[in-house]
Amino acid sequence: MTFDVNRVRAAYPALSDGFAYLDGAAGTQVPAAVIEAIAHAYRAGMGNVGGTFPASGRSGAIVAECRQALADLTGASPDGVVLGPNMTTLTYRLAEALSRRWEPGDEVVVSRLDHDANIRPWVQAAARRGATVRWAEVDLATTELPTAQYGELLSERTRLVAVTAASNVVGTRPDLAAIAAAAHTVGALVYVDGVHATPHIPVDVAAFGADFYATSAYKWSGPHIGTVVAEPALLETLKPDKLAPAPAGVPGRFERGTAAFADLAGVAAAVEHLAALAQAASGNRRDRVLTSMAAVEEYETLLFARMLDGLGAMDHVTLYGRAARRTPTAFFTVAGHTPRQVAGHLAARRVNVWNGDNYAWELAGALGLRDSGGAVRAGLVHYNDEADVDRLLAAVAELA
Ligand SMILES: Cc1ncc(COP(=O)(O)O)c(C=O)c1O
Repeated sequence: MTFDVNRVRAAYPALSDGFAYLDGAAGTQVPAAVIEAIAHAYRAGMGNVGGTFPASGRSGAIVAECRQALADLTGASPDGVVLGPNMTTLTYRLAEALSRRWEPGDEVVVSRLDHDANIRPWVQAAARRGATVRWAEVDLATTELPTAQYGELLSERTRLVAVTAASNVVGTRPDLAAIAAAAHTVGALVYVDGVHATPHIPVDVAAFGADFYATSAYKWSGPHIGTVVAEPALLETLKPDKLAPAPAGVPGRFERGTAAFADLAGVAAAVEHLAALAQAASGNRRDRVLTSMAAVEEYETLLFARMLDGLGAMDHVTLYGRAARRTPTAFFTVAGHTPRQVAGHLAARRVNVWNGDNYAWELAGALGLRDSGGAVRAGLVHYNDEADVDRLLAAVAELA
């Protein structure tokens, strides 16, 4: 499969600043086509939706195209695409709506692997409803989320299983299909956090077994917009709080207030960008997205091996994250330096990385890292290249 990283990098104006952007897991840079799509939406004349004049019609078309693009990205139905400002806000909204039908003694299953945005909204909703929270634990030796434990965790009282498609720090990709199959056997719904996974793999919500799948466009070259996709018929069963005159149908009744229309044009452009990453991709946009993301996964896996081999060969570096299936995300500490100091050292050498728990708060606690400043996270996305990795390795080597 063809993947020309130089062609890809040329699409991103920000990459010309000379920094190695290894902070993609916290938010990616944006290609010119996305910037242009947002600017074009404003330049063309912008109106609120539902009016009689052309500018209003343009906004309506942008919303429809955004839903279609996200459907093409995830394999969902456009009528099941809920749009919002970010994953956290949408997950709280869904937790509020879903938990209305929980009874005292019902159960929800969360995982210690997850970002807190797919834990706390469920824990807090469960507390309000008198439901019990059950925890899927990470095997700390392997950083896997063992599937077998779900057999013990699930019962006929389980209403919801919340699980990530990939850890945003150690990269672990749980066996979603197996977890979802077990959850569905007891009639539970499955809420999958796809925020970290989406930029790295082909996404197919049906194959994952996700009843709800959340992702945020700013993690895959788009603007700061989030979405949760679900079957429209499932959304129909939920009644979130909404304003009296606001849309009563789905997905509109989950979307509060006026949308960021220009940014939604940027989301569609970002999906187009992903679909074109592999030059050989052909067919409809869904087909091209799947082909391109498979090429991205292959490219990133090879590049990540270079990063892991390099870091793994350094005696002063401790690597966390050993899962067999993972995203290209390294989480490590450096002897004698706090994670913040390491990140500062790297920033001075024009290498952008994150330090801390990165909101993987439960996992950082389980790994014993939460109170010592977490760890350093260096992640790859499709625009990173060998030079980025080599600069990281050279700069970390200086700290020996
Ligand atoms: C795995 C994961 N889930 C959820 C979130 C929260 O996403 P948002 O910023 O869209 O609320 C993040 C953000 O870093 C993340 O990495």
